[in-house]
Amino acid sequence: MQTIVKSLTDRKIWLAPLAGFTDKAFRKICKQNGADIIVSEMVSADGIVFDKNRSISYTDSDESHHPFGIQLFGSEPKIMAKAVETILEKKPDFIDVNMGCPVKKVIKRGAGSALMKNPEKAEAIIREMKNALQGCEVQLSTKIRSGWDMQNINCVDFGKMLQNAGTDMICLHPRTRTQMFSGRSDWSLIKELKHNLTIPIIGNGDIRTPEDAREMFSQTNCDSIMVGRGILGKPWLLNEIKNYLLNAEIQTLSLSEKYEIILQHFEEVVKNRGEQTAIREMRTHFSYYTKGFKGSAKIRDFINKSLDKKAVLSAIRELYSKE
Ligand SMILES: Cc1cc2nc3c(=O)[nH]c(=O)nc-3n(C[C@H](O)[C@H](O)[C@H](O)COP(=O)(O)O)c2cc1C
Repeated sequence: MQTIVKSLTDRKIWLAPLAGFTDKAFRKICKQNGADIIVSEMVSADGIVFDKNRSISYTDSDESHHPFGIQLFGSEPKIMAKAVETILEKKPDFIDVNMGCPVKKVIKRGAGSALMKNPEKAEAIIREMKNALQGCEVQLSTKIRSGWDMQNINCVDFGKMLQNAGTDMICLHPRTRTQMFSGRSDWSLIKELKHNLTIPIIGNGDIRTPEDAREMFSQTNCDSIMVGRGILGKPWLLNEIKNYLLNAEIQTLSLSEKYEIILQHFEEVVKNRGEQTAIREMRTHFSYYTKGFKGSAKIRDFINKSLDKKAVLSAIRELYSKE
């Protein structure tokens, strides 16, 4: 078991779950461009148990995604355990529990970061889920924040409780729930968590460049890192990080190589969702892909209205041909 956990957490680059972005197509693109470990967007355990057909599609994966984790959110230990039994049919390598989501809709149900205010409930969830995983090699990870607010930073004690209850690894995004995404994440808490626990720790928060990734490892001594918003509009950052960690060299792709990746991303969504849905669904990604180019506001405006695949792609290609 320890070998499996090590293979997931030994200086690996994890793709962060980003609801609305890291769907099956984008996970594949990120995997091809340097992500070692992929996690699904959060999926409701209640949804899996009570409305399986609708919710389970979020967990779709293919062979190229492995090692692959499915993230669940919920607040009822028995339902979380039942959801685990159901999603095992998707053959994940690990199941991740969301105890960090700050969004009202999730908090209201006592799930996500609300669980950091309710350690007894959180403990019961981990114990029930671990129990449901008995006898199989699927690992359990938990994603947490620093705590609820600045007066209640409890990630170290909470982490110890999770470790005792049976989680195999913890990912820490060191912001409080009330901070949401503002300010800087406090990496010293990752260091403290690592120092106090024996299970692997995945450090997350504000990795935007290869240098940030190296700093995260050296400042916190974490076992692996997780990258989220930094890859929006540039999934190739993952490979840049990987190369930099290996060779201390920044290797950047040419604009035309980057365009090829965008094209592959688009085609992958078309394959999964059909052309017209893909054009609409890709708009948020396109707005990231086109950021920072001179005159890109006009092009974004066009892309947001157009349903013509050829015209959309040629507008993006024009930006990416200005080397
Ligand atoms: C749009 C968006 C969606 C997110 N969805 C999830 C999610 O489904 N599950 C989760 O645990 N965290 C989610 N997060 C949090 C990220 O996984 C990550 O912890 C956070 O963005 C900090 O890392 P970063 O600075 O590298 O982005 C989301 C964040 C954003 C911005």
